[in-house]
Amino acid sequence: MKVLFASSEIHPLIKTGGLADVAGALPIALKKQGIDIKLIMPAYSGILEKLPPIKNSLNLGNPFAVGDLILLETHLPDSHVPIYLVQCQSLFERDGGPYLDQSGHDFADNDVRFAAFSWVCAMITQYGNLMGWQPDLLHLNDWQTGFAAAYLASWRLEHPPIVTTVHNLRYNGSFPLHDFDRVRLSSELLSIHGMEFYGRYSALKAGLVFADAITTVSPTYANEILTPTYGDGLDGTLRAMSHKLTGILNGVDYNEWSPACDPYIHTHYDLHTIDFKLQNKLALQRENGLDENAQTPIFGVVSRLTEQKGLDLIPSAIELALEQGAMFIVLGSGDKNLEQQYLTLQERFPKQVSIRIGYDEAYSHRLQAGIDMLLIPSRFEPCGLTQLYALKYGTLPIVRSTGGLADTVFEVGPHANGFVFENANSQDLKAAITRALTVYANLNDWRTRQIQAMSQDHSWEKATNAWVNLYQSVTKK
Ligand code: ADP
Ligand code: GLC
Repeated sequence: MKVLFASSEIHPLIKTGGLADVAGALPIALKKQGIDIKLIMPAYSGILEKLPPIKNSLNLGNPFAVGDLILLETHLPDSHVPIYLVQCQSLFERDGGPYLDQSGHDFADNDVRFAAFSWVCAMITQYGNLMGWQPDLLHLNDWQTGFAAAYLASWRLEHPPIVTTVHNLRYNGSFPLHDFDRVRLSSELLSIHGMEFYGRYSALKAGLVFADAITTVSPTYANEILTPTYGDGLDGTLRAMSHKLTGILNGVDYNEWSPACDPYIHTHYDLHTIDFKLQNKLALQRENGLDENAQTPIFGVVSRLTEQKGLDLIPSAIELALEQGAMFIVLGSGDKNLEQQYLTLQERFPKQVSIRIGYDEAYSHRLQAGIDMLLIPSRFEPCGLTQLYALKYGTLPIVRSTGGLADTVFEVGPHANGFVFENANSQDLKAAITRALTVYANLNDWRTRQIQAMSQDHSWEKATNAWVNLYQSVTKK
């Protein structure tokens, strides 16, 4: 089976969050299952330098009047999974990230940028003669690829089926209707059953309504998004389509995230040598200029700083623990107010709190290995990967019970591997922190949970069966 897997970010080429981790690992796992899979991503600045030389290229012309769109083909360095890059200097070769400029604002032409990218995905899917390879199925991920479903629908030709995966419903790729002509789609698509979205139009909605199957990244989030609370205005659309919606839990790339072989960490350890985790804790304290103390409990955060993650609940919830001597180490960037709140906490507790604002892949590994507890008080969390990484590192997650966090972290019962609270408020988080500290004070109880955490298998190999079954059911129709 041939699958074109479209994503706006792929680790280790470019990453802003978990989507990149998924796009960098799931296709490789699927290829091992015999799926003939190719990736496609925009050729952002600096990407080609990270890849082997281009084997094929094709000029697709200038349909958006922004410069020629050029399709390039090479493969990922280690896995040899083929990858297409969509090159267009004026759209993709810029300073900043994939979506935001250097000052953190959305690029003003993100509609055109991702429409053009998606148009190329649709062209490959519709016209197999372009590159001599036509997928049996187009797999879209998030709003940045949703336009592809709209182009295929608007061409009104028979085309391979579409699977759309929602990694985050909050980012719906909606734009003002008066700019609709910029994306060169027929206004027929603007009905309420099409892309229309509360007086705007939404690329993600196109990805949903024109897909043959919709997936999201955990079973609990698949249920939650059918409700107004979590549906972000798309719950009505999703309820009408619930027959084609499933939740498939993300996996972990244990080649990247395993304390037994992680090249970024101070001392390797595994289930049988958990005591060596301590060396990573001492190294992390040293690195941050904090007192080296094996007993002091360390809480940590590795996250985008956004409303989604509930991180504004932490400063007041953790105060008591800090007064009792605990440490708190943060790596994150995003919301400036939140950054400021955290820096203020650091000023108040300079010997216990270390805040690093920024993005640092290597440090995120050292942090996971060195801390004792990872705080993830998300208001919503489609899957969440950092709790899965934490589990493997014997770092116990403290999570709000939502989405993929609810599916993977348990406080009670035989699989207890962390701490869970219900309501998104500081009191509930504080209570969970207190419960965690009580368990932490008893080494045997703590070890029992760590062993449970580290023994759980969230490898992609486990998830691929569900994916292969879904692909087969969609292509057989
Ligand atoms: P989301 O995709 O919503 O951000 P996930 O938990 O699915 O949340 O994935 C987040 C990914 O991004 C993880 O790989 C995490 O380690 C990484 N990450 C988040 N913030 C940072 C940061 N500041 N520096 C390095 N890695 C980060
Ligand atoms: C999104 C979600 C996160 C999920 C990731 C990968 O960024 O916020 O919960 O783990 O996508 O699917």
